[in-house]
Amino acid sequence: MLERADGSQQPIHPLWLRERCHDAASMDLKTRQRLQDPSDFDPDLKIRALSQASPGVYHVEFSDGHQASFSAEEILEEAALASNSDDCPAPRLWDGALGALPRARWRPDPSAAELFSWLESFLTLGFVIFEGVPTAPGTVLKVASMFGFTRETNFGALFDVRSTPDATDLAYTSVSLDPHTDNPYRAPVPGIQLLHCLVNETSGGLSTLVDGFAVAEALRAGHPQAFEVLTRTPVRFRYVDADTELTASAPPIELDVTGALKSVHFSPRLDLVPLFSAERLEAYFRARRLFDHRLRAPDFQIRFLLKSGDLVMFDNCRLLHGRTGFDPGEGLRHLQGCYIDADGPRSLYRVLRRRAQTSAVRRSA
Ligand code: OGA
Ligand code: ZN
Repeated sequence: MLERADGSQQPIHPLWLRERCHDAASMDLKTRQRLQDPSDFDPDLKIRALSQASPGVYHVEFSDGHQASFSAEEILEEAALASNSDDCPAPRLWDGALGALPRARWRPDPSAAELFSWLESFLTLGFVIFEGVPTAPGTVLKVASMFGFTRETNFGALFDVRSTPDATDLAYTSVSLDPHTDNPYRAPVPGIQLLHCLVNETSGGLSTLVDGFAVAEALRAGHPQAFEVLTRTPVRFRYVDADTELTASAPPIELDVTGALKSVHFSPRLDLVPLFSAERLEAYFRARRLFDHRLRAPDFQIRFLLKSGDLVMFDNCRLLHGRTGFDPGEGLRHLQGCYIDADGPRSLYRVLRRRAQTSAVRRSA
């Protein structure tokens, strides 16, 4: 029986424990991967005997004859992991009243503590702004490589965001861009975007960010039916140019199996809802309007000017980004961007935490 922190008790299923045996017969000790297919264990497996081997360590004998030891600590840690928890800092939702933005002075060789604090800002708020990033073209890829693997797309490993006459995307013009997530037509959607400002000589072109999870939760609280509609309507997104034709479907608000927010897919330049019944479409259009009007409202949105040398890195599954329009006659506005996969910063965060814990244990030994 496992006693949880809240005092509740829960029986431990023998197979759940058997799958976690970490002796040399059960797993390869180097890779920590299983040597046996757990579906081959006896489905009626029982725990035949349980004894305390030493303080906090238990010896278990299973009905298939296998014997193993577990520490109470490791079992409690494992049991505490909820189905959707990934043991990284939880999102701290924000709105237009966020106040001080998470800004950090960029250093190409940060200490582990600095890197850890950058990652904490990014994981809790969904973004971080680096200042003083050298404006040599291509530097965005160097910054990106500190956090994860670059996700190359048909726009290249790196894309230039500046107004051009033959734009293949409205981002490459000077028009304002309403809050959107990038590339919802791609499978999988790029998890994280970095935008690095090389030059900004215009007075417009302010960057905007919105916490899509905060807006979605506000919708869930105030208009539960509209929220429900946006989690159940598959919207088709499409991108077409001479050499590319991409299409993917996703609900504007995607939930995980526990009902928690997983991802926002929103780009009012690109979304095409299928021809559902008039009633269903009516409900969808009303719900999208409620969501979009909140996404664009100053109550939820922050605006800031990216100066030359500023670089913003943001979660493209949670945050929506955009910009105000600008007058290219005033001067040049040139950003370079790239994507990385969503799991890079989370992996790095766990590695740094593990290293910090190991060296703390070494110091106290
Ligand atoms: C983009 C984009 C924002 C900007 O390139 O996807 O949204 O500030 N650009 O130009
Ligand atoms: Zn964009």
